Amino acid sequence: MGRHMASGHLLSCALLCVIAAPVAAEPVAPPAAVAPRADLATALFPTPQRVEPHKGQLDLARGIRLAPPAGDEGAAKAAGLLRGWGGDLFGRTDTAPPLRFRRVTGMAREAYRLDIGPHGAEVQASDDAGLLYGGISFWQLATASGGGTIPAQSIADGPALGWRGAMLDSARHYQSPRYIRAFIDWMAAHKMNRLHWHLVDDQAWRIEIKAFPRLTEVGGVRQPATAPGAPPLPDYRGTYSQDELRAIVAYAADRGIEIVPEIDVPGHALAAIRAYPEWGMGVPVPPGTEAGWGVFPWLYNSDEATLAALETILGEVMAIFPGRYIHIGGDEAVKDQWRASDATQARIRALGLKDETALQGWFMSRLARYLEAHGRAAIGWDEILDGEVPPSVTIMSWRGIGGAIEAAKRGHDTILSPAPALYLDHVQAMHPGDPPGRGGVISLASVLAFEPQPAELSPAESRHILGLQANIWTEHIRTEARTSFMAWPRLSAVAEVGWRGHGSSDYPAFLRRLMPQLERLRPLGLEPSAGAWTPAIAVEPGADGRGAAVALSVQGDLPIRYQIDGAAPKPYVGPFVASDGAEITAWALLDGRPLGTGAARRIRADALQKRESRALETCAKKVDLLLEDDFPAEGPRASFLIDILAPCWIYRGAMLDKVDRIDLAVGQIPFNFQVGKDRDTIRFRAPKTPEGEFEVRLDDCDGPVVAMLPIAPAAAHPGVTRLTGMLASTQGRHDLCVTYTAAGPDPLWAIDSIQLFQQEPK
Ligand code: ACM
Repeated sequence: MGRHMASGHLLSCALLCVIAAPVAAEPVAPPAAVAPRADLATALFPTPQRVEPHKGQLDLARGIRLAPPAGDEGAAKAAGLLRGWGGDLFGRTDTAPPLRFRRVTGMAREAYRLDIGPHGAEVQASDDAGLLYGGISFWQLATASGGGTIPAQSIADGPALGWRGAMLDSARHYQSPRYIRAFIDWMAAHKMNRLHWHLVDDQAWRIEIKAFPRLTEVGGVRQPATAPGAPPLPDYRGTYSQDELRAIVAYAADRGIEIVPEIDVPGHALAAIRAYPEWGMGVPVPPGTEAGWGVFPWLYNSDEATLAALETILGEVMAIFPGRYIHIGGDEAVKDQWRASDATQARIRALGLKDETALQGWFMSRLARYLEAHGRAAIGWDEILDGEVPPSVTIMSWRGIGGAIEAAKRGHDTILSPAPALYLDHVQAMHPGDPPGRGGVISLASVLAFEPQPAELSPAESRHILGLQANIWTEHIRTEARTSFMAWPRLSAVAEVGWRGHGSSDYPAFLRRLMPQLERLRPLGLEPSAGAWTPAIAVEPGADGRGAAVALSVQGDLPIRYQIDGAAPKPYVGPFVASDGAEITAWALLDGRPLGTGAARRIRADALQKRESRALETCAKKVDLLLEDDFPAEGPRASFLIDILAPCWIYRGAMLDKVDRIDLAVGQIPFNFQVGKDRDTIRFRAPKTPEGEFEVRLDDCDGPVVAMLPIAPAAAHPGVTRLTGMLASTQGRHDLCVTYTAAGPDPLWAIDSIQLFQQEPK
């Protein structure tokens, strides 16, 4: 197995490996936090359309008196929100200057005008959202001023795109109602307006349906998968009652956010079919299947009774979620079960349809019409364009943006949420300690640069682009803290693109607004990732075997400043040498000032050739995941970068002079992936011992074996085990390819780290 590596890699490695090498040192305490710049010129988020400065300023020393007009419920809600977010500042009723809200006619949807003068401020808008966004802009200025003064100004502002959304997957992993409310606050503070809520999937059904209680009783619980022989993990459960959902819907509506629930059909149906097998195709479900990830083959059947049950479910969903849109999924419905079923084939003929794809079109259209008959509109993932669906159905483009282009040309409204550009389950950096996710970095700068207006569309077709949305799939996002980390600040970039209507390559300008925005959301509980502006500190043995060669890098080409052992900071211009024990600290700079707390590492001579798996390369890059270990149940677990279809790693440019020992820290994880026929493509060399062995090859994955490490010592331990092996004597710099032999893919063996050791001097 394994891929031949181009020799060009080897030639360029001497340079590249210094730059791409991973951290090989232990963390030390980070330097003290550096406060963001409270600059009122960059206080508004997203970037406003127009700001006109005036003479004078508004003094906030006495606070602000919120003054919504009597009887205007929308204005009262906007004022109530600011009171909740702004603490003392907005609590005044006495002689403080007012923030007035005035409803006017003729302004665009969600647009506002905010006038600030020495005697107070006024928001004007035609709709509730505009009043809210004007209020939020005032709050942004007030927090940036630190309660001091705001320069007099007039702001005329509004969004370019009407759909500025996030999709949150609460099916694969569950987030509490309290967390969902906090998430809604963070979205509102970014003037985002759609929360697409993925509530059901193969792994779980989380929304209470009173007509079908088994959906949550049976479908709301699963036991997480573990590798064969590993201790079981506790049941994973969580559901939302209709009362909880109604309260969340109201909370979101008060913040200008429409919740778009998704009931995914006809695939992603396993949880429902486990609860009500009569809705499925009669294909047995092996125990524990729901604990897997991937594309499952279980589909709903197309019987009248099943469609009637789905309509009953949608009826309850509509009664909870009053918004215009209901999402009915339609993605990844592999048709094998329909193809193999005589009853389904007879149904296709009886309906006068061509094939299974047309049957899905019929299935989706039937439910779309049901929603439309009740005054609602259906959304489906872009696969539903393959069958015939009415042009009134909105298409959500996820397989790239081709679906959106085709949809707009065919007269459908459409939303851009393409993978991988806006899939926030992809990691946003590969820093040590970052939580698990899909491999393949989606950076903050790349989200900001996302262009939501496909050039292929005419102006008339472009009007069908409602906006954009990023998707937070949670297969690999197990906790709420990790959900925040993966979502933010990349969602901030989505908010910016949606508001401006275009992507931006002016990353520093974005960061100037982002830093105060994130800081003001901390009191509202947001703990975002700082990975985008945290430098990576890569270390490897110095030339001539002396000290360490240290290379720094950061996303978005920001300048970097560093210190060694607290000496005067220097601008980073290229790799430098540091001695054993030295402490390196580094910061990315924005306008000459440090961003965030930076990174800190101590050089350890004995760990210069240790690489965590996330600093290795996978050989084939088919399905790279940064996967969490299944052990222990409580406390920290390892995360392994692994290509689940080709477990094989490259340690690029290892310096092998005098190296005679290699340690592999390895762990086993369950192969719980529904990958269909791709499973047959996972190949291993035949094991020589019952548990197999790791093999290390020189230069190339078909090269000579230079180390062989039997897996047996690790097989009995469910966590990470360190295997030690001798490495055949070799000189110079080489790539090492690491694979393992096995009888099959379950369990998967994964590398936590590789460490090379030089022979002890005799
Ligand atoms: C999707 O990612 N299956 C919409």
